[in-house]
This record gives sequence, structure tokens and C-alpha cells, in this order.
Amino acid sequence: MAKDNTCIVVLGASGDLAFKKTFPAIFGLLKHGLLPQPVQIVGYARTKMDLAKFRERVTSQIKVASDADRKLLETFKGLLTYVDGQYDQAASFQNLRAFIERLEPRSGVRNRLFYMALPPNVFGSVGKGLRENVYTANGWNRVVVEKPFGRDLPTSNELAAALAQYWKEDEIYRIDHYLGKEMVKNLLILRFANQFLGGIWDRQHISNVQITFKEPFGTEGRGGYFDEFGIIRDVMQNHLLQVLTLVAMEKPISLDPEHVRDEKVKVLRYMKELTTNDIMIGQYTASEDGKKPGYKDDKTVPKDSVAPTFATAVFFIPNERWDGVPFILKCGKALDDAKVEVRVQFNSVPGNTLYPNAARNEIVIRLQPNEAVYIKMMNKKPGMSGQPVISELELNYGRRYTGERIPDAYEALLLDVLQGDHSNFVRDDELREAWRIFTPLLHKLERERIVPLPYKYGSRGPKGLDEFIASHGFERHDLP
Ligand code: BG6
Repeated sequence: MAKDNTCIVVLGASGDLAFKKTFPAIFGLLKHGLLPQPVQIVGYARTKMDLAKFRERVTSQIKVASDADRKLLETFKGLLTYVDGQYDQAASFQNLRAFIERLEPRSGVRNRLFYMALPPNVFGSVGKGLRENVYTANGWNRVVVEKPFGRDLPTSNELAAALAQYWKEDEIYRIDHYLGKEMVKNLLILRFANQFLGGIWDRQHISNVQITFKEPFGTEGRGGYFDEFGIIRDVMQNHLLQVLTLVAMEKPISLDPEHVRDEKVKVLRYMKELTTNDIMIGQYTASEDGKKPGYKDDKTVPKDSVAPTFATAVFFIPNERWDGVPFILKCGKALDDAKVEVRVQFNSVPGNTLYPNAARNEIVIRLQPNEAVYIKMMNKKPGMSGQPVISELELNYGRRYTGERIPDAYEALLLDVLQGDHSNFVRDDELREAWRIFTPLLHKLERERIVPLPYKYGSRGPKGLDEFIASHGFERHDLP
């Protein structure tokens, strides 16, 4: 019996996202024997480019270390094909269809995956062109889209409606690449396969939750794009909020993607719209030594820009489990560290007359770099002293799982799409809720041109940050 055929079409194939993320992810799947066979890979974009040049551009972005990988890269190169065309003309899409049909076997199942590595203003016309001209009747059709899914609730709804005219929700895969990260995927297991955590994951035991995203570099080179969006739209409304829902959701009935997403969306529904009282925003200036430029020193950024490059906001989920527990989401560019983590801080030990200075327990799930889970706990200081001291119980992936490969997030997500698994993709109602929470605040910041607080490139963030976080119950206890 003939095997099902799969054709992967990357639209926007001459752009940065495709070169940096999509094609390397497809190569990663090939390398690990996870790409379906037979398969065709078709690049599509407006730029006229000959095939040799396209192949060269794609493969030059992929790092290979061994001879075997170099050989494989040659195989991959041979699989790549390219066709140019417009994003709004039926004739171009008909040409794409004819091109694909020349590559595909003539009979049997012919699946098609359309990866839109494109700006959202063409989602609608490309969705239409594909649905009307390139859709297969002999297999599945799946379309992958990437953020930004609009700028606010109304524009996101418009985009959703444009796509929904031609594609059913179960054919659409909205990527939030944080959902493909190993430690994000670990959250459900940590919570629901461990009695010692599951039993204390609530307001009776937890004081506050912090989800932190820190990047040590600025928007160098992307200032133009970034200025239109700012850090709240770029990172907080999607990546950090998705992590929050996984930390806070109730146990789904099963691991069925719809059951998981039902629970995630319920968390969002409980959350109120953010106000300016719940957030502090910042924008970086040149570094202390003057070697690193400030955000507004970038020529592509307007001199009077008020786009935040840093934000810390507090959210509440007023349900039975979480009522009163602050969830603090913190993100920023050009900070002192490269780190993404979830920090769950427990309450102080009640009635602790013996050790009144004991620090609170924390469980920290480090997403990157160096994946780890660690618990901060009190321990007796070894030796003659009877004093308690803060220590760590640590599961460090580099040491515990030596030799295990942690797949790249895009690779993991692309495999999910090929397997038709929606668990790690954003559903339309989730997206709507996420925008509902942020839209009034974003509009107010922009309408009133609220000026972000300055912070120096390479610092911890704007002055007042520690006080803001402490005002929401976080107690900082450093290891001795
Ligand atoms: C992207 C943002 O979605 O995520 C970038 O647009 C950000 O600004 C990036 O740098 C962070 O992703 P990662 O996987 O490097 O943590």
C-alpha cells in the first residue's frame, strides 16, 4: 500500500522567520527521522529567486557539526523547491497548485501543510488563495500561523474572521513557540503527576507566583518592528500568559487537546482587564558605561517613542483555588541576565516559633537557559550550629538527563502539526480572552502616551521594581 504523501509549503519562504525558524525546524525533524515520508518541501514567496540560490540561502542558516549531518544537509537541499507568486492573486495560487501536483504522487493520500511565515496583513488573502486553489480533497489540510495575531481585540477579531471564512478552527494551528518549550510542556506533569505538588498547589499554600522573562540584549536591528508592538504585545500577552494558564489551570478531564485548552481558557475568563495600577512599564537607556545604546538611539525608533521594552504586571484569578494570590508577570529586554523562569513562592510556615526567620519555600521551574526544577528549602547548617540555612534541592537537566536531546520548540510544534495534535497551540477563544485582558490597558497607554520609566541597559529594570513586586507579597531570600 502506498504511504500517505505530505507536502509542506512554507509561505514567506524568503523572510527571516522562515530562514531562522521554519526551515531549520524541518531539517531537525528530518535529522531525527521524524519527517513523514514521502515528503515535498515547497518555498513560496514574492521574490523571484532561482532554485540554487534559494537552497543555498536556506541551508546556509543551518548549523551542522558532523560529516553525517553535512551529508544530510545535502539530502535536505535536494528536497527543497521554490516557486514565486503573489499573496493576493488567484493565478499565483493556481500556479502553486500546479507546481505541487507535479511533485506529488498522482494517487493516494496527499496531505498539505501550509506554514504562513508571513505578516498578518496577508493572512486573509493567503488563506483565501490557498483554500480556493491549493486545498486538497485527498488528505488533510493544515494551516500554521504566527503572531502577531493583531494589535488588540478588534484587530485580532478581524484577522480571525478573515481566516475563519476559509479555514475551520481544527485546520488552524496558531503558534506560540513557548508552548513548544520542554519545560512548558513539563508543567502539566509536574502538577498532575506529583502528589506532593498537586496537594499544595493553591491559595492555602502559595503566597505568589512570578513568571519572569529577561533578555540581556535590546531590540538591535528590530526597532522598527518592535516599536509598533512593545514588550506587552511581544512577550507578555502571549508567551507569559500562556505559561500562567498552565500553572493555574484546573486538571483537565483528559489530555485531549480540547480538554486541556478548555481548562486554560477558563483561567483567562476569570481574569479581569488589566489597568495602569496593575503594571509598571520601562524603556531602556544607554548602559552605565555608555557602550550599549539606549532604545531610542536606534535609528529605526522614533525619538519620542513611548513603547515599553520592560513591563511587570500583577494578575489575579478570583476562583476557589487562586483567589487573592498575585501572579506577577515580568519581562524585559536589555536587562542584566538571560533567564526565563516560573517561581512559585509558598506561604511562611504558620506559628513558626522555633525558626521565625525561616525563608519561604519556593519551587522554581527554569525554562531557559539550562532547564531545571529546583526547590528552595530550609536545612540545618551542617556542623555544630543548630541554625537553619536556605538550601536547594535541584533537578538539573544537564546533569540528570545527560545525552538526552531537548528539541527546539519549533521542531516540537511542527511535529505536533504533522500529527494533528492541537494541545500546544492557541485556540481562537484563548486568543480572544488574552486580548480582552490587555486591550483597554494598551489603548490607554497609547492614547495618553504614558511615558515608561527609564532603566539602564544591563540593569535589573526601572527603579521601584523591587518595591512593586514586594507590595504583592514576594519576599526575596537569597542563598547564603
Ligand atoms: C519572540 C519575541 O516571540 O520571542 C522576541 O518576538 C523574543 O522579542 C523571543 O526575543 C524570545 O524567544 P526565546 O525562545 O528566545 O525565549
